[in-house]
Amino acid sequence: MSSEEESRPSSSPTMHFVGKKADIVKAGRVTKRVNGCRDVLVMYHQGQLYALDMRCYHAGGPLQNGDIEEFNGRLCIVCPWHKYKITLAEGEGLYQAVDDPTVRPLKTHWRSKGVKQRIHKITEVSGDVYVTLNDSSEAIESDVYQTEKYRTVPLNAQPKPKPKT
Ligand code: FES
Repeated sequence: MSSEEESRPSSSPTMHFVGKKADIVKAGRVTKRVNGCRDVLVMYHQGQLYALDMRCYHAGGPLQNGDIEEFNGRLCIVCPWHKYKITLAEGEGLYQAVDDPTVRPLKTHWRSKGVKQRIHKITEVSGDVYVTLNDSSEAIESDVYQTEKYRTVPLNAQPKPKPKT
């Protein structure tokens, strides 16, 4: 086990060291393979740390290259591939619904598709940042892109998008 993947402190074996907070703040975002099994994006934005699965639930896009924007008062990472919006705190997919497409001007509202991206817990101890993997047994769509198959796909190989769900 490398020192970067070391689990600390010993009383919390599920906490995995991902870096010094000062380094993450400086970089803004870092990616780590946590516990040898999960690629996680750790981000620092407006004083908060966030951790979520690195590949987008839609088609595996590289969220580490996405912009952070606010939609309907909620901070989201915008996937660089097809612009899906994912809330940083909950992993919900947001979209704009149209009330009635036959009525002009169109009236739209932000809606949630529910949790689509797996979010992980961040803990800070004396300037060190740890991730505790969210191991809930409930399937979350981003789980699909945590398999060996997708780890070996170059991140600039953009696949065709799946139909919207
Ligand atoms: S892969 Fe992220 S929006 Fe399509």
